[in-house]
Amino acid sequence: MAASQAGIFALGTASHAYLEFDINSGVEAAALVAGVAGLREPRTTMGGVNLVAGFRPELWQAVAPADAPPGLAGFDRDIVGAGGFKMPATQHDAVLWISGSAYDVVFDVARQAITALNQVARIAEETSSWPYHHDRDLTGFIDGSENPTLIEAPDIAVIPEASPGEGGSILLLQKWIHDSAEWEAQPVARQEQVIGRRKLDGVELEDKPADSHVARTDQDELGKIFRRNMPFGTVTDHGTMFVGFSAEQSRLVAMLESMAGVHDGVRDALTYFARPLTGSYYFIPSIRGLTR
Ligand code: HEM
Repeated sequence: MAASQAGIFALGTASHAYLEFDINSGVEAAALVAGVAGLREPRTTMGGVNLVAGFRPELWQAVAPADAPPGLAGFDRDIVGAGGFKMPATQHDAVLWISGSAYDVVFDVARQAITALNQVARIAEETSSWPYHHDRDLTGFIDGSENPTLIEAPDIAVIPEASPGEGGSILLLQKWIHDSAEWEAQPVARQEQVIGRRKLDGVELEDKPADSHVARTDQDELGKIFRRNMPFGTVTDHGTMFVGFSAEQSRLVAMLESMAGVHDGVRDALTYFARPLTGSYYFIPSIRGLTR
């Protein structure tokens, strides 16, 4: 089995940067892949950073067709759901997710990566993230309760042996801005109905509403994913960086369509308090796939 990029599963880091790039005009897709594969993570016994790298599905398909999952597609069209609610498509050509124990190393490595890729690609979107009260998102709820354990996560997030793209993963990266004033104006009991879990301890509500977030993303129905969401932003402008990995793109697509109410007109209650600003899918090749 080809080893997957280890940073996907590297929990517990306090600082994150997500960099999305567009290829420079006239540059071959293979040159971008080679440039990204040539990036090095600095490591000492005192620490280092994790680097996860991925590509627009069609770009990867063109460079390594034998190592690309069939049917994988970029986020090329807006998802329009109930009441005209829109999830914008903002696909870029490559992504780097850099995480580390403190922002100084993440900052340095991110700047070095942008410089190193200067000839092949330019930065198109940049987000820095940090944990909020250990494992809460900026709604104040615990995020990740239904995540698989690190033992289970590879089976859920990584393409299995002997399948095209083995050892790779599909990433949905989506930046959501929160309407914190509106959210905080709701009583906690209402917020709990919106999420479908208790705020203090994250216990799932027995009678959660059908439009609650956990009902709209029910993994028993839609398939399982591995989430590495992080808060992002400033005091006045902030939200959730949704970072979801799956071995199958269809699970992620189904969750977004369900949240937007595309098929049944029922919109996820959370979408009245948060809205996506970006949306991209990336193929995260195995280490062997990346460095061929
Ligand atoms: C503003 C953006 C979002 C916020 C603040 C948010 C927050 C949360 C919270 C607090 C939970 C409950 C605890 C847990 O199980 O983790 C949850 C569950 C979940 N979320 Fe989100 N989420 C967001 C966007 C998304 C998106 C875009 C997806 C999918 C594409 C998603 C997929 C899931 C899944 C699969 C679960 C677990 C559902 C289950 O119980 O099986 N979330 N989220």
